[in-house]
Amino acid sequence: MWELGAIPNDIIHLIEQNIEVTPNTKILDLACGKGAVSINLARAFGCKVKGIDLIPEFIDYAVTKALAYGLQDRCEFIVGDINESVLNENGYDIVILASVGDVLGNVLETLLKLKKTVRSRGYILIDDAYSKDDSNKVHHTRELWLKAFSDAGVRLVAEKKAEARVLKDINKYNQDRITQRAHELMKSYPDLVDLFAGYIESQQAECNELEGGNIISVTWLLQKDY
Ligand SMILES: C[S@@+](CC[C@H](N)C(=O)[O-])C[C@H]1O[C@@H](n2cnc3c(N)ncnc32)[C@H](O)[C@@H]1O
Repeated sequence: MWELGAIPNDIIHLIEQNIEVTPNTKILDLACGKGAVSINLARAFGCKVKGIDLIPEFIDYAVTKALAYGLQDRCEFIVGDINESVLNENGYDIVILASVGDVLGNVLETLLKLKKTVRSRGYILIDDAYSKDDSNKVHHTRELWLKAFSDAGVRLVAEKKAEARVLKDINKYNQDRITQRAHELMKSYPDLVDLFAGYIESQQAECNELEGGNIISVTWLLQKDY
């Protein structure tokens, strides 16, 4: 499973519709996982991408993939905690935070940290989700997101909601593989059967929630005011 979170095509589409990207464009992909978004962006635009993730094995995989695509000059991948990276990385044209949740704090705190990593009038891309009403404990409403954008001094340029059909297909593909792998691991580690079974269940619950209609998966493209 290379693509762990966001749908790279949705991100590519939003960028090509709204931003002039050149080979000198610098993109920061925070919590890049195995580098699927970074590498697809470098392939699509020939731009420079730096991906950072906490898990060394994910970074090793991303480096290998970049080499396989001949993109080692365009893509840099390093192991790191993005809470540290947001303090040190700056001057990017675009920063991406895709399927990462609240690792950088609440929505407003996250936006303020991301803002510091991009140049004046730079772009912030967040792939997340919102709830249609305020009954959900994890996901905020769209209104709350919009208020945070305004409070943080960023402009909503465009948004792309994940298509229900596409989301369903991706969820099924991923869930089949998660289930298969969890069953292999149950055989190797019989003491941990409950842990793996619980994981399959929690992933299925997440898919059901995303497909239930009350939670909308969305990619927001924002621009720093100044
Ligand atoms: C669901 S994956 C998303 C990966 C990628 N952004 C994508 O959309 O394909 C979430 C990633 O966040 C990373 N992560 C979580 N907390 C982190 C932290 N504090 N610093 C760096 N990476 C982190 C995990 O290792 C994992 O790869």
